[in-house]
Amino acid sequence: MNKITIAIDGFSSTGKSTVAKQLAKHLGYVYVDTGAMYRAVTFYAMEHGLISDDDFNIEALVYQLPNIEVSFKFNKTLGFAEVYLNGINIEKEIRTLNVSSFVSKVAAVSQVRHKLVEQQQKLGKDKGVVMDGRDIGTVVFPDAELKLFMTASAEKRAIRRYKELIDRGDEVNYEDVLQNVQERDHIDTTRKDSPLKKAKDAIEIDNSDLSLKEQFDKILELVNMTIEGE
Ligand code: DC
Repeated sequence: MNKITIAIDGFSSTGKSTVAKQLAKHLGYVYVDTGAMYRAVTFYAMEHGLISDDDFNIEALVYQLPNIEVSFKFNKTLGFAEVYLNGINIEKEIRTLNVSSFVSKVAAVSQVRHKLVEQQQKLGKDKGVVMDGRDIGTVVFPDAELKLFMTASAEKRAIRRYKELIDRGDEVNYEDVLQNVQERDHIDTTRKDSPLKKAKDAIEIDNSDLSLKEQFDKILELVNMTIEGE
């Protein structure tokens, strides 16, 4: 059967990665979480004192980019690939609200995008990949056979994210999470380089009122239709 490239873009906390992981597992495809790559670079910047609430040393980050190696290693127990920064597993560290609050600023730096987009294109060059992010259908794989654009209301997304953080044991309040979701929406859609936008040929899926199963079934139908049409 022909392997295709599946690009899943959309706003933060729309559940892109959950459905992308399920889909990759079902199809035997590789899953690439590109948000994790931007988060890894952000974590590096935080650890090296390059970004804080009132300061962001972009020049230093750009200078240090060659020292930042982001990679993935498949975890059999979890059933998906975890992200590594210079050989160290940082899957947990990159999911904090702190990293979330800086990541959009880091992701707006063109040199960071250039480095990560190049790596993403290499990871997906053989097709058979499900990649999620903000610019997959527009920049990374503009020729992807199937492009999805996920949306949901900011409130619904903030509730999902809040529950995730609380379940992990993080001490957060809902208002802060909602504010972070809204701020990221703003920065991600208005940045100069590759802003988040729906590709012309992407299919929009509003999952505000869809269960995970409904969403998965709908997407799988689209995947099968696309593969059949190839
Ligand atoms: O998907 P996520 O929430 O983990 O992504 C974290 C941030 O990274 C998000 O605020 C925007 C940025 N991002 C991006 O600019 N381009 C991508 N392809 C993926 C993520």
